[in-house]
Amino acid sequence: MTYYYKGFPQSTRDEVLHMVNVEELARKAKDVMPEAAYYYVASGAENEWTWRANTSAFNHYQIIPRALTNMSHPQLDTEFMGMKLKTPVMIAPIACHGIANKAAEVGTQKGAAAAGALFSSSTYANKSVEDIAAAAPNAPRYFQLYLSKDWKFNRMVFDAIKKTGYKGIWLTVDALVSGYREANLRTHFTYPVPLDFFTRYLGGKGEGQTVAQMYAASAQKIGPKDVQRIKDESGLPVFIKGITNAEDAYKAIGAGADGVYVTNHGGREVDGEPATVDDLPEVAKAVAHRVPVVFDSGVRRGSHVFKALALGADMVGIGRPFLYGLALGGAKGVKSVIDQYNKELLIDMELTGCKTIEDVKHAKIAHIRYTADNLPSDTDPTRMKPYPVTKYNQMKSDEADASSGASEA
Ligand SMILES: Cc1cc2nc3c(=O)[nH]c(=O)nc-3n(C[C@H](O)[C@H](O)[C@H](O)COP(=O)(O)O)c2cc1C
Repeated sequence: MTYYYKGFPQSTRDEVLHMVNVEELARKAKDVMPEAAYYYVASGAENEWTWRANTSAFNHYQIIPRALTNMSHPQLDTEFMGMKLKTPVMIAPIACHGIANKAAEVGTQKGAAAAGALFSSSTYANKSVEDIAAAAPNAPRYFQLYLSKDWKFNRMVFDAIKKTGYKGIWLTVDALVSGYREANLRTHFTYPVPLDFFTRYLGGKGEGQTVAQMYAASAQKIGPKDVQRIKDESGLPVFIKGITNAEDAYKAIGAGADGVYVTNHGGREVDGEPATVDDLPEVAKAVAHRVPVVFDSGVRRGSHVFKALALGADMVGIGRPFLYGLALGGAKGVKSVIDQYNKELLIDMELTGCKTIEDVKHAKIAHIRYTADNLPSDTDPTRMKPYPVTKYNQMKSDEADASSGASEA
């Protein structure tokens, strides 16, 4: 069923999704989301080189399988900043979930809570932090802050997130202005559903704003002193979201940050910057376990989660895929997406003798940088083989296996 918010169609789906991988959800979401909304999510900056590299660069790192490990039944439980989580996969902050589903952030929070995963709310959320918290009162959640030029706005936000049990802040510093996103220009994208904090603050609506207008309201000048001020005024731990190199990691820790968040905003800001997974080893080395490291951008496989953890991440964020899950299946769809990452990750853990997430963090990773000359042909997700997957074929082959007494091949 479709609900219309002032003419903007919102999915009201709430169903478990069956998928072979999360990448295929992008194609399916395209059929259910309005074109401008879909491209707002799917696109990157300029030529989208960094957006593509974010995923394909995981091929620069290889997982070493381990033999004779005498291990089975790996576990995904992990602890992060004192929170007990059922998976190291977390929901990265994304603006305006209402473009994917009427349930918006309330649906995402429910799905994340059902999976025992950490949820992040964007400053540009449609739903209020009170409604999000009410959807899963005891669930772990962080708040992503676009610092405003106006500290009255910032204080209003801090008061609200403290009252509603947010456990910390991701301070975004890599999107002081919007990247040059051609898709938004071509589709004349504006936020179609009001953004709660702007509605409260302006006494008006966040809808109808362009992405550039929204960014203009936030602070463009953010320096090390702001980190301490945010910590003091909010009383919450602050991670710096948008760290891509050692120098900035030193600066963040020196400024009092409680952690660093390695990301390039999903390739939406500087096109031509390195893939985040290529930034991660340098940042992890500079951080040297002094504070936790969060990572996102381009993660589309359980093996990508594995590699990120083994290269120094403590928590791995997923962006676009959960939003496609929300469009296609609401809260249950979000959980299905997290389940899919978990399923693939568990296979890699079993095959590498990693019983726990701590073991994955110590797993051996090889590094062969593929160039245009030796890039395996199927590493680009946009060129994935279109295997015919039908329920019918699957059932037939399952039956054949059962009757021949075959077990795992
Ligand atoms: C549609 C969309 C909106 C986003 N909105 C925000 C935001 O409000 N705040 C923020 O810090 N990051 C935002 N991001 C960046 C994500 O937090 C994350 O870094 C990125 O999506 C990870 O890349 P992936 O989508 O390839 O997984 C957004 C990303 C997308 C795709």
